[in-house]
Amino acid sequence: MLTEYHCHILPGIDDGAKDAEQSAEMAQMMKAQGVERLIATPHFYAHREKGIEAFLEKRQAAYEKIKENLPFREVHLGAEVAIEHGISELNGIEKLAIEGTRIILLELPYRPYERWMSEEIHNIAAEFRLRVMLAHVHRYLEYYSKEEMETILSANAIMQINNEAFRSWKEKRLAKRVISSHECFAFGSDAHNTGNRRPNWDLLRKKAKPEDIARSDGMFDKYRI
Ligand SMILES: [Fe+2]
Repeated sequence: MLTEYHCHILPGIDDGAKDAEQSAEMAQMMKAQGVERLIATPHFYAHREKGIEAFLEKRQAAYEKIKENLPFREVHLGAEVAIEHGISELNGIEKLAIEGTRIILLELPYRPYERWMSEEIHNIAAEFRLRVMLAHVHRYLEYYSKEEMETILSANAIMQINNEAFRSWKEKRLAKRVISSHECFAFGSDAHNTGNRRPNWDLLRKKAKPEDIARSDGMFDKYRI
């Protein structure tokens, strides 16, 4: 079941779909590109939110607006949680895991690597027995040194790859390395709209091997509760 692990399709909750109409258009594009299982992952920035419960309510309200227009076999709600200092101690952080699974999607900051980032990743996994999925690992090539990239790639996590990685030579090389060296990886479009950041499963299906896409799809069941 082609699984979208990372997208900003819920309307009006982050910098993704601006309204229910755009959400529905994104959903139609994904459906036409073969997506069958959708995981919606709006941004969660601890310093901007009032709290986890408020975020979950907001997410549910956004979902209610479009659920009738989602043509998928399965839909699950999650979040893209920005790693901030102390995030692992935030009360209720485990509630941001993808519904029905032990997976939590975490996003590293876009700035030079610091040790505490790895500690937060480790603590979230250990404290709540969650399986960390690291969002678009290839994006950090421009922020991190070679050694720092190695540290990130050695983290005990599912490495999430955006489909667009297959467009750039450098990112594709990293994506291919992850696919051949890691047991756990997952693809996502990280779609935000119907324009410059639209769903791009057609690209992935052209560039990646079907068996690798199937391995990505399998992550959901592997960590299903
Ligand atoms: Fe994202």
